[in-house]
Amino acid sequence: MNETLPCMPVHRDSLLDPPAEYHQLREEQPLTRVRFPNGTTGWLVTRFEEGSQVFSDPRMSARRPRHDVPAEEGAEEAPFDPTFVMMDEPDHSLYRRLIAGRFTPKAVAQRLQPYLDRIVDEHLAAIAAGPDTFDLVEALALPVPCLVICELLGVPAADREGFHHATERMMDTGLSREERGAGAKWLIDYITTLVAAKRSSGDTEGLLADLIAIADEKDPILTEAQLVGMGVLLLFAGHDTTAAMLGLSALTLLTHPQQRRQFLDQPEKTRPAVEELLRYLTIVQFGLGRVALEDLEIGGERIRRGELVVVAMPTANRDPRAFDNPDTPDFDRRMTRHLAFGYGVHQCLGQNIARAELSTVLPRLFRRFPGLRLAVPADQVPMDTYGTNYAVKKLMVTR
Ligand code: HEM
Repeated sequence: MNETLPCMPVHRDSLLDPPAEYHQLREEQPLTRVRFPNGTTGWLVTRFEEGSQVFSDPRMSARRPRHDVPAEEGAEEAPFDPTFVMMDEPDHSLYRRLIAGRFTPKAVAQRLQPYLDRIVDEHLAAIAAGPDTFDLVEALALPVPCLVICELLGVPAADREGFHHATERMMDTGLSREERGAGAKWLIDYITTLVAAKRSSGDTEGLLADLIAIADEKDPILTEAQLVGMGVLLLFAGHDTTAAMLGLSALTLLTHPQQRRQFLDQPEKTRPAVEELLRYLTIVQFGLGRVALEDLEIGGERIRRGELVVVAMPTANRDPRAFDNPDTPDFDRRMTRHLAFGYGVHQCLGQNIARAELSTVLPRLFRRFPGLRLAVPADQVPMDTYGTNYAVKKLMVTR
């Protein structure tokens, strides 16, 4: 069928809000037929309840094509073996369980928080000793998540510029398939080399070494390609997301004086405030796809087997049916859940790490530098509008 359909909206008109067209789509119906940037047609889900249904329905497969990049002739998009983020049950849980113990609130508090406390204080001290005006992304929002993921995985901190640059290329929907593929290949080669080095040195520190031990068992459930794929997944998913959230959260607090005051005056509000920032900013800006395994109905629409369904999480998290006054960051909001980390079996494995980083970095930054302000007008802050994760590229501030 040759349908003439609206394209999935991607251009933002306002710094911290999803594209304005979503508002109308969401008011008209919960699901809309659209054409995705990859050229395929399917369903865009703009409401919260229906989005949650898509993520929790086992008839919706996580084995999906990448919908947010333009279709190009040539090789397949998925550059490495699908990891558990692209698997369905029971395989998904089998692999996720292998590493889940490292991500519990207790494991994060015991094994990562002391390190996090130390590096945040070190970075704040370096900022205090440096020039009055500086780039907050370069000085804090990017290095902290990079160092945390290095610590978790057992990756040398000195390599962080290389893996961040490769991640950026892989995630940039504005680049060609070839350029994105080069980013992915860099990450694969990097983890492959690191795995070999760890095997030969007998290094047992970190999550990558745990995975190597599993892959080296007799009759292993992890193949070599899966081991490398999981290392790559954790490396990019574990730092780019949190760095984006830290930069955008700082921008939000810098441009919302009342929320900033509340954030500082009421330390007990840190956790709810972080949760609200996650909802309000919902950085996975082009949403997440699923593919229907059979004909089914959601939001009164008949979805056919094989159709792509994308949950537009930034918009679903602004649905007035689920959140009062959704376009305002409200730190007093009583909220039971949001979709910033997804929902259902694939809900973000690293969410406790992300929360720990956000609730350590943000209050300490604003307490240490009470006069912190933007060094350029807010509308001139360069934004990464093409990245899978919406982010500030650079955040010039004066302390
Ligand atoms: C604010 C920061 C973060 C955000 C907004 C975020 C967002 C998400 C989302 C939306 C998903 C669901 C994917 C899907 O349903 O297809 C996800 C999954 C995942 N995230 Fe995160 N993430 C963040 C931080 C992290 C960190 C710090 C790590 C690792 C250290 C991590 C590792 C993962 C992994 C391994 C998955 C796959 C889970 C599965 O399929 O079972 N994430 N994340």
